[in-house]
Amino acid sequence: MKALRHLNKYFWKYRYRFILGLIFILTSNIFGLYPPIYIGEVFNIISDSFNDGNLLETNQIKGQLAYYAFLVLAFAVCKGLFMFFMRQTIIVMSRMIEYDLKNEIYNHYQKLSISFYKRNKTGDLMNRISEDVSRVRMFLGPAILYTANLIISISLIIPKMISISPKLTLYVLSPLPLLVVAIYKVSSIMNKKSEIVQEQLSKLSSISQETFSGIRVIKSYTQENFAQLQFMNAAEDYKTKNLSLIKVNALFFPLMILLIGLSTLFTIYIGGLEAIAGHIQVGHIATFVIYVNMLTWPVASLGWVTSIVQRAAASQERINEFLTEEPEIKNQIKESTTIAGNIEFNNISFTYPDTGIQALKNVSFSIKEGETLGIIGKIGSGKSTLAELLCRINDPDSGTICVGGKNIKELNLHDLRDAVGYVPQETFLFSDSIYNNIAFGNKQSDNEAVHQAAKQAGIFENIKQFKKQFDTVIGERGITLSGGQKQRLSIARALIRNPKFMLFDDCLSAVDVETEELILQNIKIQSKNKSCIIISHRASSIKHADQIIVLKDGEIIEQGVHKTLMNLDGDYAHIYKKQLIESKH
Ligand SMILES: Nc1ncnc2c1ncn2[C@@H]1O[C@H](COP(=O)(O)OP(=O)(O)OP(=O)(O)O)[C@@H](O)[C@H]1O
Ligand SMILES: [Mg+2]
Repeated sequence: MKALRHLNKYFWKYRYRFILGLIFILTSNIFGLYPPIYIGEVFNIISDSFNDGNLLETNQIKGQLAYYAFLVLAFAVCKGLFMFFMRQTIIVMSRMIEYDLKNEIYNHYQKLSISFYKRNKTGDLMNRISEDVSRVRMFLGPAILYTANLIISISLIIPKMISISPKLTLYVLSPLPLLVVAIYKVSSIMNKKSEIVQEQLSKLSSISQETFSGIRVIKSYTQENFAQLQFMNAAEDYKTKNLSLIKVNALFFPLMILLIGLSTLFTIYIGGLEAIAGHIQVGHIATFVIYVNMLTWPVASLGWVTSIVQRAAASQERINEFLTEEPEIKNQIKESTTIAGNIEFNNISFTYPDTGIQALKNVSFSIKEGETLGIIGKIGSGKSTLAELLCRINDPDSGTICVGGKNIKELNLHDLRDAVGYVPQETFLFSDSIYNNIAFGNKQSDNEAVHQAAKQAGIFENIKQFKKQFDTVIGERGITLSGGQKQRLSIARALIRNPKFMLFDDCLSAVDVETEELILQNIKIQSKNKSCIIISHRASSIKHADQIIVLKDGEIIEQGVHKTLMNLDGDYAHIYKKQLIESKH
């Protein structure tokens, strides 16, 4: 329950709407309070007229009946109107809070570090924001509405009933607690079962999602039957679980109607006895029957509401878990800082906490402003890890990284990331037009800037060949680009930012050697005074760099310019010679 306190700030934000909603609930209940009495009066008039034998005065009776009929109708209309208003306030409030809460969660997600995303599955993150928020909304809307309605109707109706006959009131209300318990039990079972169904449904959708995204592999390995079987089993499971839910569901309404019917029967029986004994009038039985019916719905909903509140509390607790998560990498500096100068890595070590793999060991180097550093090394030697440390996607365990003589932890994080034109090893493009994908790097860019970036990245001619050129949509909704085209597009996206430093992580592995060299040279010439880090598996691509480092198992084993390293005749020279021979064949 404590978890739900998080929502207090939203109740406060929408307090006027909430209070207005309570007033509307009260008003609609007041309008509902009188029709049963009028109906009772009608019964009394008719029964009195029989008793007295006053059948001559039928016209007068007709008039009275019409009068009461009009009153009942008028009150029903007013009640309906205020019910409309109460939904318009309370339910609308719940939707507004739902919107706020979703935004709060989303906003918080964006602040969290990459390691958070590694720890949690995407499906979980999405569930928090959709499924869990919906459950909390059920508490904010229907649960609060029904609870307020219950409290108000009980406090209005029961005194009225007592004023007519305390004894009858006691009798007819006695089965209601039973009703609450029964409904609570059934809805708890229903909730448990629907959770199981929900879980199975997400299994089913992840199976289909995986098979669709891996459809090429499935087809080329002719594993369609296997995929079909896998889906069928999961679907069968889903069906079985759903059928079991439906059984309980089917029980819910009949049970409610039965219990309500029983209490009506009870009222008529006891009321009849009381009327015969002369303690109450016949009309009062009718009034009681209607009152009992009016009470049973809200009372029955109490059982339902209890289970909604329990679910909402559990969901809110899960949401709070994420909301209280602190980003590991925080921006400590509020004011903006200029990022320029030499880049220095001093004794950097880094171990991935989840795998315990030490990816970098005592790495030190420095790049003068405007210089190019080439990094080469075997798979898993720590190249990408090094790149991520510079953008502060991770922070090193020991050692310092300085830019312009200042530790990057003391620089404004946003400015730092803005200053680095980082092209990650794995390209990720959005399902959007080519234009928007490039302009994503710099939202203020115009047509010319986008074209210029495309030219620099060596993809302009390719784009021109597409029918829709820059408007070509890529990804799921459009054409599929080749690996090399994707890589060059993501380079264009980085270039358009006009960054201070450039950081290319093996981002031209899918183009041929000559094109890679050409593009890198091109970029270097056009941005003469920018520092540049090029990570590549090809020695030829970095041989012109002002400095080359060779990484092996997270350590620098060779360092220097191309010529020095060739003279050294170590790993670098070995890779270079081998690749030279390969390229000639
Ligand atoms: N997110 C991660 N979590 C845990 N371990 C990781 C993670 N990323 C990389 N590693 C490990 O750290 C080591 C260095 O990885 P890194 O990606 O830096 O290598 P790399 O030199 O870029 O390799 P490649 O040439 O294949 O791109 C590897 O042993 C890898 O398994
Ligand atoms: Mg890498």
